[in-house]
Amino acid sequence: MMAEKISFVSKNHVGWGAIQHLNEEAAALGAKKILVVTDPFLVDLGMVDKILNKLDSKFEINLYTKVSPEPSLEMGEELVAYTRENKSELVIGIGGGSALDLAKIAAVLATHDGKVKDYLNISGTRQLENKGLPKILIPTTSGTGSEITNISVLALESTKDVVTHDFLLADVAIVDPELTLSLPPKITASTGIDALTHAIEAYVSINASPTTDALAIKAIQLIGKSIRKAVKEGNDVQARTDLSYGSYLAGLAFYNAGVAGVHALAYPLGGKFHIAHGESNAVLLPYVMEYIRSSCKKRMTDIYGALGYNPLQLSEEEASIKCVEQLRNLVKDVGIPLTLKEFNIEETDLQDLTKDAINQKRLLGRSPMPLLAEDIYSIYKAAYDGTAAQ
Ligand SMILES: NC(=O)c1ccc[n+]([C@@H]2O[C@H](COP(=O)([O-])OP(=O)(O)OC[C@H]3O[C@@H](n4cnc5c(N)ncnc54)[C@H](O)[C@@H]3O)[C@@H](O)[C@H]2O)c1
Ligand SMILES: [Fe+2]
Repeated sequence: MMAEKISFVSKNHVGWGAIQHLNEEAAALGAKKILVVTDPFLVDLGMVDKILNKLDSKFEINLYTKVSPEPSLEMGEELVAYTRENKSELVIGIGGGSALDLAKIAAVLATHDGKVKDYLNISGTRQLENKGLPKILIPTTSGTGSEITNISVLALESTKDVVTHDFLLADVAIVDPELTLSLPPKITASTGIDALTHAIEAYVSINASPTTDALAIKAIQLIGKSIRKAVKEGNDVQARTDLSYGSYLAGLAFYNAGVAGVHALAYPLGGKFHIAHGESNAVLLPYVMEYIRSSCKKRMTDIYGALGYNPLQLSEEEASIKCVEQLRNLVKDVGIPLTLKEFNIEETDLQDLTKDAINQKRLLGRSPMPLLAEDIYSIYKAAYDGTAAQ
């Protein structure tokens, strides 16, 4: 194995009450004019006011509250223009992955020329040159891990693309489970499965290392034991805390080891059909893992154990099959459909989805089993029918 390079956000406040550190961190970054990037729902909920009340009145605050779920490239362009005009000195992102991803782009591109489009991973032509404005990221979902990754995801016409560079890493991440208490069951479920998918894909990634393995396994344990409870009883402090830590650790794992096939196939579902990121991962997770199972039986046996089941009496063949079954049960138990049909996708869409997914080379390159166009089609077909892939 090659020596690994591991990097993390340098300052993290994690756990119940972490948000109390916001003011001292904003002050330490030495800025006066703050741009806050968030979504309108969190403003209506009173969450944004509650958080911003922690800031000293000496700060001048500009609010950008137009973030919509699965933000588009156009929204990124609008926000970057707004950030440049306002001469902000610090960006604070409050929300799910959608708000945090946009906050990251705004902070970095504030000090660059050109459009967001120029810096996209697949179709862009320009390289980022500097870190931009300092940023503090505060997640309110337990899902994307955006607060500690170097990626921002944007929806294009038929798929998604990313801006990715270590310049996108936050200066400070504040992960407070209390902020997730208000998440409704459906969003708890989809964002929680997104986090679980990060940990699973990082664990079976060809770039996995002892460091990312430790993070991924602990994340799977924490998410596995808390997600059903957090969906059913949203006020359960222990379940919310476990899910929040799980999502944070899964983020650290996948930032360093990468995600792969599930995300590659999920992106076109988000881009084309506007299915929420977590749901598109959830509906595909059992089918992708079933398809690649033979390439990572030992690792799937470990995942089965981390989910709380006992693999000791089983062969790796048996345990990895049971692992797929349990992933299917988990997706069902948290109330997410198990077939593409139920998301109103037609069989005639599968070819186009395959064409888009195959472009996600950055992600597919980390799959333990190489996935070519015919493999991707078979997985989509299995997920469409709700049967095992051939
Ligand atoms: N940067 C990364 O590393 C990364 C990784 C995975 C996904 N993503 C991207 O993140 C986006 C999805 O983010 P998400 O899944 O966190 O969802 P989201 O940010 O789109 O939020 C989903 C909904 O939940 C609501 N919400 C958020 N927090 C809430 C709370 N505490 N209480 C009540 N409602 C709340 C929001 O208002 C919104 O309506 C997608 O664009 C996806 O592609 C990014
Ligand atoms: Fe994800």
